[in-house]
Amino acid sequence: MKGFGLGLRPRHYEAILKSSPRVEWFEALSENYMVPGGRPLHYLTRIRERYPVVLHGVSLSVGSIDSLDRGYLAGLKALAARVEPEWISDHLCWTGVGGRNLHDLMPLPYTEEALRHVARRVRTVQDFLGRRILLENVSSYVAYRKSAMSEWDFLAALARDADCDILLDINNIYVSAFNHGFDPVEFLDGIPAARVRQIHLAGHDNCGDLIIDTHDAKVIGPVWDLYAQALQRFGPVPTMIERDDKIPPLGTLVLELDRARAISGNVLRKKAA
Ligand SMILES: [Fe+2]
Repeated sequence: MKGFGLGLRPRHYEAILKSSPRVEWFEALSENYMVPGGRPLHYLTRIRERYPVVLHGVSLSVGSIDSLDRGYLAGLKALAARVEPEWISDHLCWTGVGGRNLHDLMPLPYTEEALRHVARRVRTVQDFLGRRILLENVSSYVAYRKSAMSEWDFLAALARDADCDILLDINNIYVSAFNHGFDPVEFLDGIPAARVRQIHLAGHDNCGDLIIDTHDAKVIGPVWDLYAQALQRFGPVPTMIERDDKIPPLGTLVLELDRARAISGNVLRKKAA
């Protein structure tokens, strides 16, 4: 699948069906549609008739030490059979332990032990779903003293060991680089190009000494610049804008997506010259 997409949000359902916007695909949040019926699934089914769809989840908790949630995986597999997504993604994180959900995407300690643990779980998930999944780098505000490698080395090793793909969130790289003081380009340089299947772009809230990943604003200039550097390294990668709060009208997001198209066109033309 190629081109530029948007996160599918309920306030845009009707506008998408009425206006058939210039968008190549939509990313649906898996958990919103893992139900036997109802309005969201009705709209997703109609939109799927016109556009390719990918599924993006937040509940896999692939980094947790709790058992994988087999009920969740069965629901996801059933949804995938219905929607036939181009791919399924979730995050490289843990969201709870001891049965308690933190409702947040927590980073992992980047150790060999964690790598073996997560790789084993990713393989289990992929065997169950019968397909590779994409894992996304999260924004983080804390790190572990025990970490023995960088986040990008961990992600690259995981993709190799678990044979999974990568959803690269450029904003999350920028946010974590700011919060932890690393070079975001070093992150890009550490990621194997062949594994990068999708890119997320989003806005955030800069509080001065900390950036909070709010997904409620426009993509900022430095994140666009980092996106250009990512394309320089990875070539054409399906890209979407992810807005979760203060969601503007569909047309506004389509215009913001045009900027991604323009940057991508520029970078790839120069790269080919
Ligand atoms: Fe993201």
